[in-house]
Amino acid sequence: MVTVKINGTEHQFEEGMTVLEAARSVGISIPTLCYNEYLKPYGGCRVCLIEQVGRPTLVPSCTTQIFDGLEVITESDRITASRRFVLELLLARCPGSEKLQKLAKEHGVDYDDPDSLDTVGKYLLTRAPKRGETNCILCGLCVRVCQEVTLRHALSISNRGIDRKVSPPFLRYAETCIGCGACAYVCPTKTITVEEVS
Ligand code: FES
Repeated sequence: MVTVKINGTEHQFEEGMTVLEAARSVGISIPTLCYNEYLKPYGGCRVCLIEQVGRPTLVPSCTTQIFDGLEVITESDRITASRRFVLELLLARCPGSEKLQKLAKEHGVDYDDPDSLDTVGKYLLTRAPKRGETNCILCGLCVRVCQEVTLRHALSISNRGIDRKVSPPFLRYAETCIGCGACAYVCPTKTITVEEVS
């Protein structure tokens, strides 16, 4: 067992847990988008960032392992500002995602209410040339389920920078795809549909 202090209170946990798992096991909620308990954590969406005492930057709770003496904070002004910032960026990319809209609203970010947005959000709202074009947030859940659970390796993330996208490996048709729909099932923004893969 290891002792971890979360938000000022000490708890005992089994070794090998992540901060997210440990926090949830004692009823502390941390928002996530790219986390799935059956897949290896990836740290892609940055919604679950928390403070690790002694470290200057926020860290993703889904990929940070606990250890004896670890001290973390899951709620603070800094964390709230960070989550809002991330959600504004994600929402600007995929404003049609109901899951994302709901999560963003829970954090006070509503693209239908410009007054709820900070400077970055307002800027993204006015320019956002790609609003509505894609709902993919590049969280990688579809790629991971295809690789780790169905073992088909029919999806990958290709290209770099603003051209990054989910596609079959080498942008070619993947003959290993069996149309199981696992990728559509885990997609948090419903960008992939069962009809599309079957
Ligand atoms: S849930 Fe941790 S980075 Fe997405």
